[in-house]
Amino acid sequence: MLKKFNLFHSILGLFFKNRPYDEQTVMLAGQEYFVRAIKLDDIKDLLSIEREVYAGELPWTKTAFLVELQSAEPHLYLLIQKDGQTIGFIGCRIFGQDAHITNVAVLTKYQGKGLGSFLIREVQRFAKLNQCEMISLEVRISNKNAQRVYRQLGFVSNTIKPDYYTENKEDALEMILYLKEE
Ligand SMILES: CC(C)(COP(=O)(O)OP(=O)(O)OC[C@H]1O[C@@H](n2cnc3c(N)ncnc32)[C@H](O)[C@@H]1OP(=O)(O)O)[C@@H](O)C(=O)NCCC(=O)NCCS
Repeated sequence: MLKKFNLFHSILGLFFKNRPYDEQTVMLAGQEYFVRAIKLDDIKDLLSIEREVYAGELPWTKTAFLVELQSAEPHLYLLIQKDGQTIGFIGCRIFGQDAHITNVAVLTKYQGKGLGSFLIREVQRFAKLNQCEMISLEVRISNKNAQRVYRQLGFVSNTIKPDYYTENKEDALEMILYLKEE
C-alpha cells in the first residue's frame, strides 16, 4: 500500500514539479503582496536589494544571478512585490534530494513582517514536489537574526564551514530543515 502510494506520489510530483510557478497575491500580517517567478529583467532590482541589505556589498553579481536563473537544474527563484516595487527575493536549486537555498533577502523596511518565512515555505513546497528530503543553506556565523528566523521555521544546525566567506574568512553555519513524509 505504501509502495503504491509512493509511486502515485512520484508520478504526481513529476507532473507538478515542472510546472511554472503560479504567480499569486498573498496577505501577510494584514498587508497584500504579489509573488511571482523572477525573470532576467528583474536582476537589477535584486542587485539593489542586495546593496541595501548588505551595506553596499554585492554577494551575488549580475553574472551569478544570470547563471542561476538559466541553470538546467531544477530551481525556483521568486520575488515579492509591494505596490509594484520588488522588496524581497529567494533562490533555491535542487541538488539530488537537497533543495539548497542559494540566496534570500528582504529590504530592511519590510523585514520582520513574515515575508522571508513565507518565501522559505514556498521553497519547502517546491522541495516536496521534487521529492527532496531536506532544505539546506549556509549563513554567516555572525548573522544571528537570519539564524533565528531559520530556527523558528524548524532548521537545525550542526556543521560549521570554516572560512566559507572568502572576503573576510568568516565561518558559515550550515542549517538544514528535514522534510517529513506527510
Ligand atoms: C533573513 C531575512 C531574509 C528574513 O526575512 P524576514 O522577512 O525579516 O523574516 P520574517 O519576517 O519571516 O521573520 C522575522 C521575524 O518576524 C516575525 N514574523 C513572522 N511573521 C510575522 C508577521 N506576520 N508579522 C510580524 N512579524 C512576523 C518572525 O517570527 C520573526 O520573529 P523574530 O524577530 O522573533 O525572529 C531578512 O531578515 C533579510 O533579508 N536579512 C538580510 C539579508 C540576510 O541576512 N539574508 C540571509 C542570508 S543567509
